[in-house]
Amino acid sequence: MEDFSPSALGTKEHWDAVYRRELKTFQDFGDEGEIWFGEGSMTRVVRWMTSQNVPPTTSIVDIGTGNGMLLVELAKSGYSNLTGIDYCSDAIELARNICEKEGLSHSINLQVADFLDSFSPPEQYDIGLDKGTFDAVSLDPSVSEVKRRQYIQSLCRTLKPNGRFIITSCNWTKDELLQQFGNEFEVTDELPTPTFSFGGHSGHSVTALVFRRRS
Ligand SMILES: C[S@@+](CC[C@H](N)C(=O)[O-])C[C@H]1O[C@@H](n2cnc3c(N)ncnc32)[C@H](O)[C@@H]1O
Repeated sequence: MEDFSPSALGTKEHWDAVYRRELKTFQDFGDEGEIWFGEGSMTRVVRWMTSQNVPPTTSIVDIGTGNGMLLVELAKSGYSNLTGIDYCSDAIELARNICEKEGLSHSINLQVADFLDSFSPPEQYDIGLDKGTFDAVSLDPSVSEVKRRQYIQSLCRTLKPNGRFIITSCNWTKDELLQQFGNEFEVTDELPTPTFSFGGHSGHSVTALVFRRRS
């Protein structure tokens, strides 16, 4: 398993600049901004929840929620105990504005918190979601491996024993995610993602896995 070259995408300054811009665009034009990995990445998660008959009051936290659109989709599907955290205050402001516009603020609690540092939930959650946040943490120019360990430790504090963790990643393959999360988590499902073919080889551009926290 190889480390990635450090990138601006792993810094808070980068995300602050992205969401400052996206918040302004929303205020000016009502555009919600980028859906990371496309609409299908949200549908996959919602479909898994409904296929597993996850009850509507299940506590769900979206780690690095960005514009909060995944939570909006879940709220529209009937989920009502939703929390989104992000270390960018403009991302949380954008997510709040979108929730208000959609009339979903009563189902979605949003807070500014650094998942690796300042996030200390009063109670553990049943389900954690991550769409692109572990990827961003993995690109942090300052000791990515340490940050990744911190992420996994924080995830263990955040989720109940046997709690589920649904991760969508474009940087790590299934085997690489298993290598990193495997001590504390076991994989229970792999969500179908689009395949691509190039030069006679085929593969997935995105990996989506469901883990269960070992008790
Ligand atoms: C690739 S974006 C994905 C945003 C959102 N999950 C989505 O699918 O649209 C990564 C997100 O992770 C957030 N993030 C990165 N590191 C974080 C940290 N340590 N704590 C909280 N949020 C973080 C960024 O601010 C950004 O919103």
